[in-house]
Amino acid sequence: MCGIVACLTKDRDKPTLSIGIDALTRLEYRGYDSAGAAFRTASNTIICKKAIGKILNLQKELEEYDQTALTPLILHTRWATHGTVTTSNAHPLSDCSGNFYIAHNGIVENYTSLKKQLQEEGHVFLSETDTEVIAHLIEKYFINNLEDAVRKALEQVVGTYGIAVISTYEPDKIVAASLSSPLLIGLGEDIIFVASDLSAIAPYIQKVVYLDDREVAVIEPNGYTIIREKKPQEVQWSGSAHDKGNYPHYMLQEIMEQPSTLEETMRGRLDLQEGSAKLGGLISVAVRLSRVNNVQLVGCGTAYHACLFGEYLLEEHACISSKSEVSSEFRYRKRALSKDTALIAVSQSGETADTLAAIKDAVSNNILALGITNSIGSTQTRITDAGVYTRSGTEIGVAATKTFTSQLVSLVLLALLLGRQRKLTLPEGQTIVNELLRIPNLVRHTLLCTDRVLEIAKKYENCENFFFLGRKYNYPIAKEGALKLKEISYVHAEGSYGGELKHGELALVSEHFPSICIVPKDSVYDKMVSNIEEIKTRNGTVIAITTEGNTELKSIADDVIYIPETLEILYPILSIIPLQLFAYHFANLRGCDIDKPRNLAKSVTVE
Ligand code: M6R
Repeated sequence: MCGIVACLTKDRDKPTLSIGIDALTRLEYRGYDSAGAAFRTASNTIICKKAIGKILNLQKELEEYDQTALTPLILHTRWATHGTVTTSNAHPLSDCSGNFYIAHNGIVENYTSLKKQLQEEGHVFLSETDTEVIAHLIEKYFINNLEDAVRKALEQVVGTYGIAVISTYEPDKIVAASLSSPLLIGLGEDIIFVASDLSAIAPYIQKVVYLDDREVAVIEPNGYTIIREKKPQEVQWSGSAHDKGNYPHYMLQEIMEQPSTLEETMRGRLDLQEGSAKLGGLISVAVRLSRVNNVQLVGCGTAYHACLFGEYLLEEHACISSKSEVSSEFRYRKRALSKDTALIAVSQSGETADTLAAIKDAVSNNILALGITNSIGSTQTRITDAGVYTRSGTEIGVAATKTFTSQLVSLVLLALLLGRQRKLTLPEGQTIVNELLRIPNLVRHTLLCTDRVLEIAKKYENCENFFFLGRKYNYPIAKEGALKLKEISYVHAEGSYGGELKHGELALVSEHFPSICIVPKDSVYDKMVSNIEEIKTRNGTVIAITTEGNTELKSIADDVIYIPETLEILYPILSIIPLQLFAYHFANLRGCDIDKPRNLAKSVTVE
C-alpha cells in the first residue's frame, strides 16, 4: 500500500533524488497506482511532480531537475482509497498557497466534515483525497512554526496517519508524525530520512528510530527531535533482499527458496532432547504462557489460514482450547475472553491495520498478546508482549508463499513448546522434532513437481472456476490454495471442507469446474476419497494431491500430484507447495502480472 520516503541533507553534492527514487522503488512491491515527489528549489518555492502508474513515469517528470541535493525532498507511492487514480489525487498534496506539502499514509475518517468546514472558511480543494484536509489545516494553524501547526492540525484528525510535511516557511525542515501507521527516522551519513518502511532506506542508513503513536518529529540538517527521545537501534541489512536472480518472478523465487527459509525459521530452535522448541522471543513471558488455557488466533488473508492451521494444531497437540478468527471480524466483536487466554496475532508484515487493532484490544483487556511476524521492528513487534520471528527474509511477491510456510512451522514450534508444558509426551515431542528436521529436504523434494504441475496447469488453462477441498489440517490449505489462485490469476476459486460438499457445493461440480483435492494419507484420508467419488459420480474433474506410494487415486482422479510422506500435522507444509506452483504456472500461462496482481497491496495498512 502507500509508501513514504523523505530526506534532507546539508551536503550539496548528495544525489538525493536518485537516492529517494531508489528508496521509493524498494517499496514498489507493496502495491501502488501513482507516485509523486515534492522538493524545495534554490529560490525557495516547492516543486511537486506526480504521475500515475509506475515510478518510472514519475522519474520522467523529474528528468529536467538537478539530480543532486534536492532538499528537503518528499516522495510517495499511493494506493487509492479516497478518490480515483489521477495525478491530482496522487501525493504530495498541498494547501491553497502551495507553501505546505504533505505525503500521507492512512485514512482521515472525518475528512468530509473537516473539508466542509475548511471550504466554508475559504480553502479551495484540488483533489478528492482525504489527505488534502491535513494540508489545509496546517495552512490554517501555521504561525511561525511548522511542528506546532502540524500538531494542531492532527488534533482535528480522526483516523490513522504517517505523514511527512515540508514548507517554504521553514525550508530546512521535515515534520513527521504517526498514528497507527508506521513511520521511522533513518540516520545515514550526512543524510536523514523519514520512511514508512525500513527496507526502503536500509542501504543508506546506520541507525533507525521508530515513531510511536502520536509522536511528532522534527528533522533538520543537524539531527532530529521527537517529543519522547528514544535510543536508536542497530540496523541489520544484508543488502541482497531485492534481487530475483535468474527467476522470471519474485513469486517463483520465493516458492523455490522455501527449503532454506524453513531451515532459517527452525535454526537453533529445535530441542531434540526435550522434544520441544526454544523460542527466545517468548522467554520474557514464560510464566504467563504456562498459565494459558485458551488461545485466540487472529490474522488476515494468508496469515488467517495459518491461524486456522494453528487452531487444529494447538488444540490437538498443545491441549489448549483454540479458536481462530479474521482480525477484521475479531476487532468488532463483543467477546468475553477469559484472563487465561493468549491472543496470537499472525502477520507477515506486522503492519496489517485490522490485526494491530485486534492486538491493541487484547492488550487493553490485559490479555497476553503474542505475535508471529516476519518483519523486524514492525508495529506488531512493538505492541505485543512477546513474539516469534518467522525469519523468511523479505517477501516481494504480493502473494504470500515462503512467509506462509514459515508461519506454519513457527506455529508447530509454538505447539511443541506449549504442548510439552502440558500433555504432549517426550516421545511425541521428539517424533515431531525429528520430522521437522527432515522438512527442508521434504520441501526440496516436493518442489520437483513443478514440471508436472505446469503440465496440469496447461491442461486446465481455460477453466474459470476451481474448487479446493481438504479436511482437518488440510482445510486451511484448501483455503490458501484457492486464495493463491484468485489473487494472481483472477479466476474464481473456492476453498472448502471436503465434508461440506454434499451440503450444497456439489451442485456446482462439473467437467469444467475442476476440484483440487488434498488427500494425503492421514486420519481423514478415507473420508476425502469418498468426497472424490462423489465428485466423479457427477462427472466432475478431480486433481488429487496425495502421498507418494499411494496408487489408489490413479484410477479415480483425473490427475495426481505426489508429495512425500510425513506426519499428519506437517502435511500442510508440503501440500501447499504444488498449490503455490499451480497458481503461479496457471497465472503465468494467462499472462497475469504475477508479482503485482491488480487491485492488491502487499501490506494492508488501512482498514
Ligand atoms: O502482512 P499480513 O500477513 O498481515 O497480511 C495479511 C494479508 O493481507 C495477506 O496475507 C494477503 O492475504 C496475501 N497477499 C495473500 O497472498
